Amino acid sequence: MRKDHWSSIVHFHLLCRFLFAFSVLSSVSLIFWSQSSASCNGEAALNPEKRNESFHLLAFPSALNQLSFSAKPPRRLLKVALFVKRWPHRNLAGGLERHALTLHLALARRGHEIHVFTTKSNATFPRHNDAAMSFHQTPPSPAGYLNQALAWEQFQTENATGRPFDVIHSESVGLLHGRARNISNLAASWHGIAYETIHSDVVQDLLRGPDEPRRPTITERLSKVIEEVKFFPHYAHHVATSDHVGDVLKRIYMIPEERVHIIVNGVAESIYRPDQKMGEEFRRKVGVPDRARLVIGLAGRLVKDKGHPLMFEALKQVFGEEERFQRDVFVLVAGDGPWGNRYKELGRNIIVLGPLEQSELAKFYNSLDVYLNPTLRAQGLDHTFIEAMLSGVAIAGTRFASITGSLIVGSNVGYTFLPTVESLKESLYKIMKDGKQVLSKKGEVARSRALHLFTATKMAAAYERLFQCISKEPAVKDNIDYCRYPLPWDSGKLK
Ligand SMILES: *[C@@H]1O[C@H](CO)[C@@H](O)[C@H](O)[C@H]1NC(C)=O
Ligand SMILES: *[C@@H]1O[C@H](CO)[C@@H](O)[C@H](O)[C@H]1NC(C)=O
Ligand SMILES: *[C@@H]1O[C@H](CO)[C@@H](O)[C@H](O)[C@H]1NC(C)=O
Ligand SMILES: *[C@@H]1O[C@H](CO)[C@@H](O)[C@H](O)[C@H]1NC(C)=O
Repeated sequence: MRKDHWSSIVHFHLLCRFLFAFSVLSSVSLIFWSQSSASCNGEAALNPEKRNESFHLLAFPSALNQLSFSAKPPRRLLKVALFVKRWPHRNLAGGLERHALTLHLALARRGHEIHVFTTKSNATFPRHNDAAMSFHQTPPSPAGYLNQALAWEQFQTENATGRPFDVIHSESVGLLHGRARNISNLAASWHGIAYETIHSDVVQDLLRGPDEPRRPTITERLSKVIEEVKFFPHYAHHVATSDHVGDVLKRIYMIPEERVHIIVNGVAESIYRPDQKMGEEFRRKVGVPDRARLVIGLAGRLVKDKGHPLMFEALKQVFGEEERFQRDVFVLVAGDGPWGNRYKELGRNIIVLGPLEQSELAKFYNSLDVYLNPTLRAQGLDHTFIEAMLSGVAIAGTRFASITGSLIVGSNVGYTFLPTVESLKESLYKIMKDGKQVLSKKGEVARSRALHLFTATKMAAAYERLFQCISKEPAVKDNIDYCRYPLPWDSGKLK
């Protein structure tokens, strides 16, 4: 890494520290402090349009999604190896697998050659004629994971064909650290780290019933964190999928800053977008009467971990306390799980829809005034919030650091609550009091934030540049240093 790359960044940070110290000491500097802190958070300060200065990509402290990479076809095409435990089968996939599919399909469509090393499944993977993707499947290990020895053998075979891989991507521990160590052109994306889970453990233990035993995993969690702190540094580069995880990787996992990159999750903006007519039709179809004053939506797996017992209790209480609530507010519940049937007991204004295909889900979001996710799991960046935001819907969520740090960053986007029935009820009353118009304003702000940060296009562009930057000998091949931003063709905004 050349020295001049760093010097401007270092000077910049020193200036920010100085401003911070100054403003804390000065009692009349509240406004000044808020301005200087806003310009030190990377968003404005390292924005090259404002600073008119190029910088080293790996030193950018905030989400790379903020940058405007060229939307034109890339000049440098990469051969990419992806290690992922499972490839998603239709919509029945968790966040990590969907992330792998959204990202690598987008990269392949931009012309990169993608090789997926994954577990054999008897479901056939859909073919994409417009994307160069090859699948290298191996039987799972006895514990059900990606068989490291077999997958590695296939990787080596493909790597020895004369055109070695430019970059290797591991979704979480898809490629274990024993094999990943010492590979410099490798990045691992983290969708949930043990440190984050501690917050969920605390919450879930507090909510435990008097006869329920404490979860045994709770006592093992700290050693799991320490284990991760020890083995994470074996991966050369890390992608944090939320701002909070980026901070934890740098501070608590002690990974050098230039090896930690934040790229927040994105979802397909062509599928999740505002469409009022679509929303109205969906309301009618599922039986929401025209007189409904407010429609609240819940989606996902309807299980305890996702906070549905809390939500159930909160709704039950507000329905009992406020007759208006039961009469005027409708709750649409999309998804599968044991709490689906319980919700039906609460009354006719709760409509349980079952699991929805992607196109139906897009209509569902459009039918809502607010999307509420009472999750008790702090891990990763929940896709459903992003889908709702892109659809132009206000969101409400539990106060976990990834949610408040990346998604619901202020009351202009939505509502946050503590994982208690009381706090959830307070939010429900606030939502009811604010009403349609206020919610619709928040929905607009949510959408513009999501378009700026959480589209699949932005996510793929950020990964593409990161991969170009860390790929083997980036400067030698075409004499362009892909680690610099902006490059001459970056000026255009991503559309
Ligand atoms: C930005 O940089 C360009 C070229 O380096 C220069 O011509 C221009 O005057 C600069 N603008 C500002 C506002 O400093
Ligand atoms: C897939 O394979 C498993 C065994 O590996 C088998 O139990 C299952 O029935 C198969 N499913 C289908 C749809 O063929
Ligand atoms: C892939 O092949 C290249 C060229 O032979 C080699 O330099 C590189 O180390 C190989 N990668 C891995 C991870 O083995
Ligand atoms: C791999 O990296 C470790 C340090 O992480 C180092 O001790 C070891 O010598 C390296 N091995 C090779 C083959 O480069």
